[in-house]
Amino acid sequence: MFSRYKKTAGRPLPQPEAKPATSETATQTVAPQPAPQPAAKAPETPKPRPAVVRGLSEKELKRREKLAEVRVELHKRLLDTLNLAALEHASEADLKHEIAAICADGLAEMDIVLTREERATLHQELYDEVTGLGPLEPLLRDDTINDILVNGPKQIFVERAGKLELTPVVFKDDKHLMRVIDKIVSAVGRRVDESNPYVDARLKDGSRFNAMVPPIAVDGALVSIRKFKKDKLGIDELIKFGAFTEEMAMYLRAAVGAHLNIIVSGGTGSGKTTTLNALSSMIADNERILTIEDTAELQLQQIHVGRMESRPPNVEGKGEVSQRDCLRNALRMRPDRIIVGETRGEEVIDMLQAMNTGHDGSMTTIHANSARDAVSRLENMVAMAGIDMPLKAVRAQIASAVHLIVQASRLQDGSRRMVSITEVTGMEGDIITMQEIFRFKRYGIDENGKVLGHFEPTGIRSHFSERFKYSGFELPNHIYTQTAAQ
Ligand SMILES: Nc1ncnc2c1ncn2[C@@H]1O[C@H](COP(=O)(O)OP(=O)(O)OP(=O)(O)O)[C@@H](O)[C@H]1O
Ligand SMILES: [Mg+2]
Repeated sequence: MFSRYKKTAGRPLPQPEAKPATSETATQTVAPQPAPQPAAKAPETPKPRPAVVRGLSEKELKRREKLAEVRVELHKRLLDTLNLAALEHASEADLKHEIAAICADGLAEMDIVLTREERATLHQELYDEVTGLGPLEPLLRDDTINDILVNGPKQIFVERAGKLELTPVVFKDDKHLMRVIDKIVSAVGRRVDESNPYVDARLKDGSRFNAMVPPIAVDGALVSIRKFKKDKLGIDELIKFGAFTEEMAMYLRAAVGAHLNIIVSGGTGSGKTTTLNALSSMIADNERILTIEDTAELQLQQIHVGRMESRPPNVEGKGEVSQRDCLRNALRMRPDRIIVGETRGEEVIDMLQAMNTGHDGSMTTIHANSARDAVSRLENMVAMAGIDMPLKAVRAQIASAVHLIVQASRLQDGSRRMVSITEVTGMEGDIITMQEIFRFKRYGIDENGKVLGHFEPTGIRSHFSERFKYSGFELPNHIYTQTAAQ
């Protein structure tokens, strides 16, 4: 009855793992490639199961396939048999007991014998299927995983310790994946379908969730989950992981203490939010802080914190509360500091104004590849917001609003580092002037692919030294001159 297992020969996967050297029928490992994106053209035929299941023999694969079929069959029986309404109130133990009983009957009827471990796994999978997010549950439970990236039902990547890896986890088919997506988005009162093909949501545990479904997603739904970390990386851990040095931390502490306005710039997944969180942990306890985010990710430890989360429009296009709305309101709420999770659009105007008018010490993040680039992004955002101001005036606004740009970067070995700390010092003619104080200097890659390099001060003293001093942060001279021992 399980003869359905047959490798779909012929069409290679559109992803990079379909290396020409790999035999089509082989099931052996092919090293997963980082971040493959579905090919641009829509294939007519369904995607074959990826032949990339790490370290599994043909026999193990067949067994896995067989178990998957058993699971589907038993899941069907569970749905037929269980009273779903009653499930809401059932305890975990009761439900597991019930599942075990139904499984035992089903397996006996199908005349299938499982080992003890297989049975335990099956029970857990069915439990996850009934109560949670099915195949995603074990990945969500695994604390070593940062990101989960689903490219259609048969390909799930995770990021672990900075590296992307393909998992053997799969959904049964498109429908199964869509069911899980529906479960997530309906729990937050949203809908996702052909007419609303993408959605952002927050999972129960705080993880950030984004999905895009066909036909916009060509090869099946794309899902990205940024797992919520209960223990955000603190300053000490970040120093230990080599994200920045003690000296840089001293400097940043002075910058935060002296109420400099700070922008954390970086690419996607480069550690911007983590850095923003670390910087905000340096804020004194007696300050009133308001945070504004699309998905609440920041975890401030201070007592006096007001958190806001923007809201997208509902299905009828109504009820939107944008970051800009939150920001405008925040200004009436007497904050000492405002922290905006990410500045992306028209809220940039209010953010710059807030920074310029008495909310010194505000912070935000921005998608950009360098400090210079971050400034151009700000200029572009102001222009896109429809503000008709000469470029020079916009630049003058930016130059007086932003004091410091901290550049976060995910290096090719997966490590995240603060590759530059740059001060905005003013304007010269039409140009915003900046000076870099610290940088990460790379000199190569070792045999294991690890990036070699060290942090160094550029030798330039801070433009804000006086301000630091008045605020009670007199920094020793050596932090500007001596390269820290790595
Ligand atoms: N220095 C670091 N060392 C190790 N892991 C880190 C470091 N910085 C961030 N991370 C981890 O990397 C992941 C991405 O970090 P983060 O959410 O801060 O990035 P981001 O730039 O805000 O991403 P996005 O662009 O998606 O908002 C998180 O899981 C985080 O825990
Ligand atoms: Mg972020």
